[in-house]
Amino acid sequence: MFIETCIAPVNIALIKYWGKRDEELILPINDSLSVTLSTDEMCAKTTAAAASSFKRHIMWLNGEEVPFEQNPRAMRCLKEIQQLALAKEQLKFPIEWKLHIVSRNNFPTAAGLASSAAGYACLVYALAHLYGVQKEELTAIARQGSGSACRSLYGGFVRWHMGKSNDGTDSIALPVAPCEHWQDLHVLILVVNDARKKTSSTKGMQLAVETSDLIKYRAQYCVPQRTAAIVDAIKKHDFAKLAEITMRDSNQFHAIALDTYPPCVYMNDVSHAIVEFVHAFNKAVGEVKLAYTFDAGPNACLYLLERDVSIVLAAIKNSFPNDAEQSVEYVKGIPIACDIG
Ligand code: PMV
Repeated sequence: MFIETCIAPVNIALIKYWGKRDEELILPINDSLSVTLSTDEMCAKTTAAAASSFKRHIMWLNGEEVPFEQNPRAMRCLKEIQQLALAKEQLKFPIEWKLHIVSRNNFPTAAGLASSAAGYACLVYALAHLYGVQKEELTAIARQGSGSACRSLYGGFVRWHMGKSNDGTDSIALPVAPCEHWQDLHVLILVVNDARKKTSSTKGMQLAVETSDLIKYRAQYCVPQRTAAIVDAIKKHDFAKLAEITMRDSNQFHAIALDTYPPCVYMNDVSHAIVEFVHAFNKAVGEVKLAYTFDAGPNACLYLLERDVSIVLAAIKNSFPNDAEQSVEYVKGIPIACDIG
């Protein structure tokens, strides 16, 4: 038997990916940019094993069997890794051998907390190790599992370039800056509700591309400008600029979800209260010290500098006490972190 185990981090986008130009290859309509979080707090852990005695591919996610052979995205990732191994003539075991895969997330699955990003990055990385091709370009393969997964293969700040080709070979993620570049940048996750989300990101972005007028404007005009500006802010450690762009982009992404017909509503009342809280906090301290961003769910991800973590946590506990109607379930301080391993 051959066996490999990997851990992959979650990434949270500052500039959101929303909308595909090719559903099958998962080619996006805009670039996106994210921060990779520390694996200590939130990660996926995947073990992949190959043996001559296995009768079929089987996968367990958080202890439950999930379809693998019937999952076209998972099978596509496996086929791509196998092809790399065949091309490199690096087979450690016969290609026909079936796999058993066990994966776990240490955070709520499918609650808008980027579980699929860490999950597919981990799957691809574990398979790449199993087949001996871990040094190859893997982001274009992880992208075909879940778009945002391609960004979880690097630590620090990562940009997914949408690419121009039809075959997706140039739709890859590349590092913008390593985590050491801005070590005092921290992230707080406010878990508002860990129930499963209403409309999957796949369905939500498909509907948006079909029905939203705003999405074209965002992809063509807003994202290119914002991406250039945020890369500049990262290079200069300009937190206020990074924060403003991040908040504007989150707001625009949710505006597009609402411009979808029928609309997709991902944020709830507590999410909106967090938005208000962040703007009120920044106004009270007289500078932009805190930024929010929301993925396809109600939970908030707040960016701030390490020196402000305790004052922000105190303000959050004061505004969202545990016994209140608008409470947040838990809060974590997560430094940005290093590469997959
Ligand atoms: O990779 P997916 O299909 O889970 O889509 C992720 C979409 C967002 O999380 C909302 C934005 C992003 O860029 O991560």
